[in-house]
Amino acid sequence: MSRRPLIAGNWKMFKTRGEARDTVEQLQQLLGPSLSVDVVVCPPFSALSAVEEVIRESEIQLAAQNVHWEDEGAFTGEVSTAMLSDCGCRYVILGHSERRQFFHESDAVIHRKIGKVLTTELTPVLCVGESLEEREAERANEVIHGQLEADLGELTATEASRIIVAYEPIWAIGTGKTATPEIAQNVHGLIRHWLGGRYSAQVASGIRILYGGSVKPDNARELMAQEDIDGALVGGASLDAHSFATIVKESG
Ligand code: 13P
Repeated sequence: MSRRPLIAGNWKMFKTRGEARDTVEQLQQLLGPSLSVDVVVCPPFSALSAVEEVIRESEIQLAAQNVHWEDEGAFTGEVSTAMLSDCGCRYVILGHSERRQFFHESDAVIHRKIGKVLTTELTPVLCVGESLEEREAERANEVIHGQLEADLGELTATEASRIIVAYEPIWAIGTGKTATPEIAQNVHGLIRHWLGGRYSAQVASGIRILYGGSVKPDNARELMAQEDIDGALVGGASLDAHSFATIVKESG
């Protein structure tokens, strides 16, 4: 099955509304119309609406970086799926290692969020990945399988076919230390194999698996050339429109 590549820029906690608007305006100009890959930007909540106004008529799509699992309620500081859809979001990142590490998001919480998101039109982008210690102890595969098992839980094959997975080795995030194409392909292959065993070969072959961790203009092409790498979740290099546009072009 041919999977359309998806390149997403996770802006994390960067950019005011004005900065966000400027970045997507530049990005639109650099990319032009008729994109050959899916291009997604993930601004902080505070800039979602501002970015949506700029990209409304373009093919660039919008994602949020997190969401709550309830429809509404007394949950100070949280946002709901309906609020994200109302801002024009099509995707939401879940289980990013920074949320797991700094905000103690457990697999149980991530599982609840995925379940909620799948009742809406939003597409969850589930992040998994091992730490340096886990890789050095040769536990990477076990850790990733454990995350998939716990985060996806008892989803049906139809539900699972709607998700996107992002493999983000923690040791490669923000370190400039990218996984080699061989390491990344190896893990992506294992993830697809796990999905095939859990659901079906057909479901597994349709699910996009993105790589994240120090993706830059000069390493994007080699990573994207790997059989099971279907796109990228780009952090630092997505903050600058020129470098993000180059990554998009290298991936087409
Ligand atoms: P960097 O590209 O800055 O390593 O960040 C990757 C990431 O965490 C994307 O979600």
